Amino acid sequence: MSTVLQARDLTRYYDVNQGFLKPPAQVKALNGVSFELQAGKTLAVVGESGCGKSTLARQLTLIEAPTSGSLLLDGQDAAQAGKAGLKAMRTKVQMVFQNPYASLNPRQKIGTQLGEPLAINTSLSSAEREERVRAMMKRVGLRPEHYYRYPHMFSGGQRQRIAIARAMMLNPKIVVADEPTSALDVSIQAQVLNLFMDLQDEFNTAYVFISHNLAVVEHVADDLMVMYLGRAVEVGAKETIYSRPLHPYTQALLSATPSIHPEDRRVKIKIQGELPSPLNPPSGCAFHKRCPHATERCKSEVPQLRELEQRMIACHRAEDINV
Ligand SMILES: Nc1ncnc2c1ncn2[C@@H]1O[C@H](COP(=O)(O)OP(=O)(O)OP(=O)(O)O)[C@@H](O)[C@H]1O
Ligand SMILES: [Mg+2]
Repeated sequence: MSTVLQARDLTRYYDVNQGFLKPPAQVKALNGVSFELQAGKTLAVVGESGCGKSTLARQLTLIEAPTSGSLLLDGQDAAQAGKAGLKAMRTKVQMVFQNPYASLNPRQKIGTQLGEPLAINTSLSSAEREERVRAMMKRVGLRPEHYYRYPHMFSGGQRQRIAIARAMMLNPKIVVADEPTSALDVSIQAQVLNLFMDLQDEFNTAYVFISHNLAVVEHVADDLMVMYLGRAVEVGAKETIYSRPLHPYTQALLSATPSIHPEDRRVKIKIQGELPSPLNPPSGCAFHKRCPHATERCKSEVPQLRELEQRMIACHRAEDINV
């Protein structure tokens, strides 16, 4: 196995203006996230809206530079890369967004758009580029005549196929997909998920697959990282966590996902209150105000990720509540 991505303590703060006469503040959108990803494997990242998933995606795809922490792509440190180095690294990690329409150029034919990464990054002739584009179009389930069409002439599912084809054109080591099926009809979702899986088998691409939907993630993930307010709270193999979640937040998320294991439908655990603001995170464990098991210690001491039952977990009470 080869490691294609190593994130160490990735942290991203944003300075925000709170308005007239108020002091500027910092949003701690991403607060020290670490993981490793192997070639051909999928890490799913789940958590509520605002927990920092897209912020993580922007660091991994080198769209932004982290406030602190390090990122190694294919063994190369992004912080040490320099301008030319970063340009080369950016071809190794591609992104697929939730809304493919926004990431496609409405005035350019699909064939041209798919050929663009090749035109910029390779010395292939235009005939060779067209051949590669046509092969990839076929691979993702588009027809030859689609080469000359514009984005608005496609359905949502087809547009996501185009976006996936474009991400794959340079045979990247890693694809970061941020809610790639959330905007699609349920029937189309499964087809697009299958396409992701088939392409991974064929090209050995590693995926970071972001979703708030644990039912979607169950189909694609090898490993799972559950995030809460900018931190990882439970990380491990998908089967391990799905079969026995140990963190109270993971337990609540899984119990609220109806399609998972309907035969032993768990008692629904309702998460109380709303996700706190990362501008003003709670003391101690960020989940303590919503956690049914919180104690005094949880209010004052930040739980660190530690190993327990074949996964990593950040919870002071994991042993007491999982007997
Ligand atoms: N450029 C920015 N400036 C200020 N705050 C930001 C910026 N980008 C993100 N944030 C804040 O950081 C936090 C995390 O945002 P992020 O978009 O990463 O969450 P998310 O998990 O992707 O949510 P969703 O599921 O809704 O997409 C949020 O509180 C958000 O308001
Ligand atoms: Mg997001």
